[in-house]
Amino acid sequence: MKLWYGRFRDEVNKAADSFNSSLSFDKRLYRCDITGSIAHCTMLGECGIIPKDDAKKITDALKGILSDIDEGKLEIENAEDIHSFVENELVSRIGSVGKKLHTGRSRNDQVALDIRMYLRDASRDIISLLRKFALTLTETAEKNLRTVMPAFTHLQKAQPTTLAHHLAAYAEMLCRDISRFEEAEKRINVMPLGSGACTSTSYPINRARVAELLDFPAITANSMDAVSDRDFALDFIYAGSVAMMHLSRFSEEIIIWSSDDYKYIELSDSYSTGSSIMPQKKNPDMNELIRGKTGRVYGDLMALLTVMKGIPLAYDKDMQEDKESVFDAYDTLRASLVVFDGLLGEATFNTRRMRECTDGGFTSATECADYLVGKGVPFRDAHAIVGRLVVYCIENGKTLQNLTIDEYRKFGDFDEGVYNAIGAETAISRRQAPGSPSPDRMSEELAALKAKLAKS
Ligand code: ARG
Repeated sequence: MKLWYGRFRDEVNKAADSFNSSLSFDKRLYRCDITGSIAHCTMLGECGIIPKDDAKKITDALKGILSDIDEGKLEIENAEDIHSFVENELVSRIGSVGKKLHTGRSRNDQVALDIRMYLRDASRDIISLLRKFALTLTETAEKNLRTVMPAFTHLQKAQPTTLAHHLAAYAEMLCRDISRFEEAEKRINVMPLGSGACTSTSYPINRARVAELLDFPAITANSMDAVSDRDFALDFIYAGSVAMMHLSRFSEEIIIWSSDDYKYIELSDSYSTGSSIMPQKKNPDMNELIRGKTGRVYGDLMALLTVMKGIPLAYDKDMQEDKESVFDAYDTLRASLVVFDGLLGEATFNTRRMRECTDGGFTSATECADYLVGKGVPFRDAHAIVGRLVVYCIENGKTLQNLTIDEYRKFGDFDEGVYNAIGAETAISRRQAPGSPSPDRMSEELAALKAKLAKS
């Protein structure tokens, strides 16, 4: 039975009915919906808006419905939306008294409550997955404080760094993602019930009590705003989009690193897939999918921004379109984090290959220039001298490491000390500024990361 049957004489058109229904996707709100209803009804009883006995009958029946759904004894079906389903089921179980539940409430404030409760849990879940992945990265970094690899800019070899430095960069991004979700959660965690359809209600309700029962630290300030606000859902998807962007960039690197030309990393069989035709293939599909699915989450953000941009106050049915976007963003980010964390935990870094590759591509050129600066040459002149050395090396098939001292001397004031100065390990250990890859600074950064992750 439709909650609004009284005003209507004719049956709703079948296609219109199914077009209007949100049950197929909002059924996942059942726990939030029923828990919210129990709090609402408890408050109605306490405030004398409905008799206490009735409130007890209703809350007991709601608890029964919740456990029956949890245990798979009750199928969620045949209703316009989850709110209608629960109310119909309630009335079918306890009769007329169940019809008192909706006193002083509208589906507009009810759905706002449900989605906030859902996203509050979702944010906490995502935060714990982000923390887990950031810890995996931090722990892998700790084992690789001295694993030398090239740092890139423009995907061209730039300077020597360590795998720890590279991985910790991603751990820093994930820490920022955690704080973005924590910020989102603050705005999600505000209780809208009592706003009614749009102008609240004339019953003597106690909104603070409902907030207390549902563990909300605050209530919404304006009933028009409360039923028409989905900013908090946008905050959630935005935080998710940025997190996906980070996972996508890292995925791109894993894809490059696992290519035959790089071979910096080997993914485990359990996180790779093969080819139906090329027997040699072991493909990084998980990372390609994470990279691809990032597009979906951006799409979810764009979809909801667009849904919200032109709707007048207060509630409009357009807002039913919020759910599939937030659910999709949540599911996608969740699955990506779980898979990426598992994949990284089982991956093998080819540290020898990384070390070998560090010496190619003139990654020591900056150190070579800095060596001359140490001898009093202005940096810009030193830069030009080493630039000419690099050209000489390219033309003669040499590297800065295997030039003879006589060759060096043709270009400037070099002595034997240059060979040590241009070593990758020297370059790394001499970087002592905060944020640098030297094992000293990295240990500090990793300790700070772990402390932050333990707190959040
Ligand atoms: N299924 C609706 C939604 O998700 C619930 C609110 C319906 N409100 C209304 N006035 N028709 O937004």
